[in-house]
Amino acid sequence: MRIEITDLHKSFGTLTVFDGLNIKFEPGEIAVVMGRSGQGKSVMLKHLVGLEKPEAGQILIDGRDITGLRESELYPIRMRFGMIFQNGGMLQSLNVEDNVALPLIEVQGSDRHAIMDKVHEKLKMVGLEGKEKQSVTTLSGGQQKRVAIARALVQDADCLLFDEPTAGLDPPISQTVDEVIMEVNQQTGATMIVVTHDLVSAFQVGQRLHLLDKGKVVASGTPDEFRRIDTPVVREFLKRGTLIGQEGGGR
Ligand SMILES: Nc1ncnc2c1ncn2[C@@H]1O[C@H](COP(=O)(O)OP(=O)(O)OP(=O)(O)O)[C@@H](O)[C@H]1O
Ligand SMILES: [Mg+2]
Repeated sequence: MRIEITDLHKSFGTLTVFDGLNIKFEPGEIAVVMGRSGQGKSVMLKHLVGLEKPEAGQILIDGRDITGLRESELYPIRMRFGMIFQNGGMLQSLNVEDNVALPLIEVQGSDRHAIMDKVHEKLKMVGLEGKEKQSVTTLSGGQQKRVAIARALVQDADCLLFDEPTAGLDPPISQTVDEVIMEVNQQTGATMIVVTHDLVSAFQVGQRLHLLDKGKVVASGTPDEFRRIDTPVVREFLKRGTLIGQEGGGR
């Protein structure tokens, strides 16, 4: 899926979140969006699925502007996205396989056998084979995140949106989540947009990195290009990661 946001403006009351945001995501890439807290990363993800509407600007999905669409027109577009929320968004009363099957049961209704074949295939892809019947309440944070990824995969989404996939996870678990993101990208060719504070994760999974600051993209590039960008805002942002590493908080 090709996504292009052009000249996006969005405010909440007197708070301006986007003041001419421009950003592009290429089909099949893993893009990382970084930025300090409150810079609009989650709000940007919501615009992509039509959960927020801009005051001005365009959001082109494969060339089609979705900003003026009605709910009924947005629905098929929303189905092309899989969202992996920070808390995983799991139903605690259901076991692993039923959580993953949820989007299919809601849409297709009937053939449980075919649905479960697909569910098991996706659970295998994220390394959760054998956990199908387990209650999600007994899974680790990283495993819950992988269930959420499997659930996004069963609907054959063209684009997966991750909001802080490694937040709250310890370094080895974060590493496995990063690996699943990269493997799933290779196997499915889905476009992936990863919002993260985790610099280790950002430089590991990101093929293209973007930094949001004060309502705009202030830096973009491949990991190598990004490291060489020598502006105060990028230096300041990257320095924080180095400090975390020195304190033993990095990976
Ligand atoms: N529905 C809303 N109504 C009012 N203000 C909102 C709303 N949604 C977001 N905001 C504000 O917009 C700004 C951007 O929010 P957003 O959640 O996108 O930040 P973020 O970059 O994801 O931050 P974090 O890294 O902490 O998750 C914040 O100041 C937030 O309070
Ligand atoms: Mg956020």
